[in-house]
Amino acid sequence: MIDYTKTLKRGGNVTHYRDTYACIHLDYLKDNVETLYQKVRKPLMAIIKANAYGHGYQEVANMLKDNPHISMFGVATLKEAIDLRNIGIEQDILVLGGIPIEDLDLVIRYDITLSLFSREYMEEIIKLYHHDRPVKVHIKIDTGMNRIGLKSKEEFEDILQACKSSIFQVDGVFTHFATADDENQKDAYEKQINMFYEIIGDHTFKYIHCQNSAAMMYHHDTRSNLARIGIAMYGVDPAGEECDALKQAMSLYTRVVMIKKVKKGERIGYGLTYTALEDEYIATLPIGYADGIIRANQGRKVYIQGKYYPIVGRVCMDQMMVKVDEDVHLHDLVEIFGEHISLAQMAKELSTIPYEIVCLVSERVERIYVK
Ligand SMILES: Cc1ncc(COP(=O)(O)O)c(C=O)c1O
Repeated sequence: MIDYTKTLKRGGNVTHYRDTYACIHLDYLKDNVETLYQKVRKPLMAIIKANAYGHGYQEVANMLKDNPHISMFGVATLKEAIDLRNIGIEQDILVLGGIPIEDLDLVIRYDITLSLFSREYMEEIIKLYHHDRPVKVHIKIDTGMNRIGLKSKEEFEDILQACKSSIFQVDGVFTHFATADDENQKDAYEKQINMFYEIIGDHTFKYIHCQNSAAMMYHHDTRSNLARIGIAMYGVDPAGEECDALKQAMSLYTRVVMIKKVKKGERIGYGLTYTALEDEYIATLPIGYADGIIRANQGRKVYIQGKYYPIVGRVCMDQMMVKVDEDVHLHDLVEIFGEHISLAQMAKELSTIPYEIVCLVSERVERIYVK
């Protein structure tokens, strides 16, 4: 067990002046990449959108850029792609969503790859194009998710033909699964993957990719030559289950700022929704919903010095209260999630998915990188 009570003290690198920290194990990310690579044995596109799922895109990208298994990076927005270029990432960067076409100049200037997902989008790009370098694209096929992508072989052939005689450089083709994480919907996965390969037909591409973390972990596919590694890289099982094969990279900690004794019948927090059942010790923690710990956490537990204690009263924007006992002291370290409370468990208790919890950890929370 790692003793964070000593290591997570304010130190030279602390910049947020607050005892609330997300602790990120970059080595765990590296180990998870290796684990997933051994499973699929093909090059990987590291998905580091949304600030690397809350883990900090700069540190994550810098750690991954020399990893021999990582061939490309995937992000959601043009800004995220440009941010990666600006910190020196040289590999191809694919923007998985659409971009405002007015920003096409930036796509060319920063050598970003776009997802090409509809005839209309393609025509808008052609209209604004006035460059001497082609627009790099991966064609997105919608095989059932109904988000973005071409929905038929005809549309695909049509776009492919238009791309040949135009300004585009088609580097890849891809699709995204809606149910790869769900063992009760394997038929939907099968339908999607079959449709993907039927639409591509005999065409060849530098990159053919469809696997996300769940598809890599729970299914088998040898026809694609690149896999997109997202949540599993951060050490979280895509189906939201406990998973020994992966190492959860992020933990969230804070420290007790005040302890008081309240009398039986006293009430706590906004709305006075909790009433002390007896004389009780209440600890106040400097973390709240503006840090990503949403109000639905009321009633859940945190971990302090070997025991679990309930969050009482409403979670405030910046603070929350916990019912403790004599064993808890001022400045004690509090685990919100980590070694003793997994993201999988927390997500279940909140009726959500681990993705949402890590993405919500806000900029205000200091990230400390542990090696
Ligand atoms: C198109 C696309 N590919 C890959 C991923 C990564 O998925 P995961 O984190 O489940 O591996 C995402 C995530 O939303 C995505 O939208």
